[in-house]
Amino acid sequence: MELRKAHSLSFDTMAPIAQRARGTQDLLPADQPYWDAMEGAAKNQAGRFGYQRIETPIFESTELFQRSAGESSDVVAKEMYTFTDRSSRSLALRPEGTAPIVRAYFDAGLDQEPQPVRLFYTGPYFRYDRPQAGRFREFHQFGIEAIGDGSPVIDVEAIVVGWNWFAELEIGGVSLHLNSIGDEVCRPAYRELLREYYRPHLSKLSEESRARFEKNPLRLFDSKDPQDEALKREAPHIVDHLCAPCAEAFRVVKEGLASEEIPYALNPELVRGLDYYTRTVFEYQHASLGGAQNALGGGGRYDGLAAALGYRSTPGVGFAMGLDRTAIALKEAKPAAPTALDIYAVSLEAPDELYVFHLASSLRARGYRVVFDPGPARLDAKLRKAARRGARVALLVGPEEREKQQIVIRDMHAKTQTSVAERELLSTVSQMLGGG
Ligand code: HAM
Repeated sequence: MELRKAHSLSFDTMAPIAQRARGTQDLLPADQPYWDAMEGAAKNQAGRFGYQRIETPIFESTELFQRSAGESSDVVAKEMYTFTDRSSRSLALRPEGTAPIVRAYFDAGLDQEPQPVRLFYTGPYFRYDRPQAGRFREFHQFGIEAIGDGSPVIDVEAIVVGWNWFAELEIGGVSLHLNSIGDEVCRPAYRELLREYYRPHLSKLSEESRARFEKNPLRLFDSKDPQDEALKREAPHIVDHLCAPCAEAFRVVKEGLASEEIPYALNPELVRGLDYYTRTVFEYQHASLGGAQNALGGGGRYDGLAAALGYRSTPGVGFAMGLDRTAIALKEAKPAAPTALDIYAVSLEAPDELYVFHLASSLRARGYRVVFDPGPARLDAKLRKAARRGARVALLVGPEEREKQQIVIRDMHAKTQTSVAERELLSTVSQMLGGG
């Protein structure tokens, strides 16, 4: 007796064995309507433009990301989750989707199909960064890639797909930021120009910016350090130093967006965090997240990526939306998630349980969503549960009803109820809910 008591005591006070890993989140039932909406709109909008679904593995060789993202990218330098498997291969949890999709495009011979190949995807991604509001270590993206065509009109198409996705979700306040970062013809000279501009001021820069000065001076524009602000403001912009083909492509993108009536802000400081971009880059920003995490999504053209991965040089363009961040904006726009429950079927005493369970089955067979709640319990407690689940109708059966083969049907919105014979149940419910 004593022993058992001691045991249960230590059990009660024991700490849980595991906790959620830092920077991860559980997507709970209350979150799911938002995720369903985001994925539904992704399929709908991508599908309308002929983008087809693709899913690639969660882990890939580390080298794929090292070669694609470029040495100076934080995503590679600091943020990748890498591990060595039992055969001593270095693998990485994917930090982004574009490089794996370009790999899959060549692996599967999609480069032999009519071009461009239009693909979309949703899934989890991983970056080891300091977690904060809107920034996670496991996060989720919806993205599209159009591979195999260099026309700037495809850039416009990609931007429109993303824009329409936000419109379908009815998230207001999204602003589109646009820039061109040139290509291998004009960017090297501009990079030197930028270094010349910054060189006399190196001692005034933050430590991180000094490192960027060496590796990739374009990323100096990404600095959020107040110390770097003044210099950043006066720095030369790449849009003023584009070669003729890049300038022409940028003109077409701007004209295309204007003709689609999509408002955009030219942002000469937008350079993006991954090194594979050429020409068009863009971001969809939203005020609700504030600070550094204000990008709900972003993308651009990556005409040099395939060659950097060792494949035949092939142009591409796409974007990825951050679903975790978009969910935050979506909840703000629509605080009440829609419920998906039609009927809450209650038995008030244990002997009625199987009867009510069977009634629920017959309603489900008609297409209704029905939750069964066994007894015994007090009626008011059961009705509170039905309301919490957002049910439109509650069915109530106690010993009295069971005996008379009657069922109480309660309209949860109007708070009225009637009693019907079992054979009238389906017709009454279908009058109240429609369908069935
Ligand atoms: P990215 O800008 O690195 O681009 O990520 C796209 C979006 O994913 C961001 O705008 C953000 O909303 C979300 N995101 C990124 N990191 C995190 C994080 N740690 N926590 C929460 N959300 C995050 C790419 O990944 C490119 N692959 C996009 C692309 C596709 N470019 C061309 N095609």
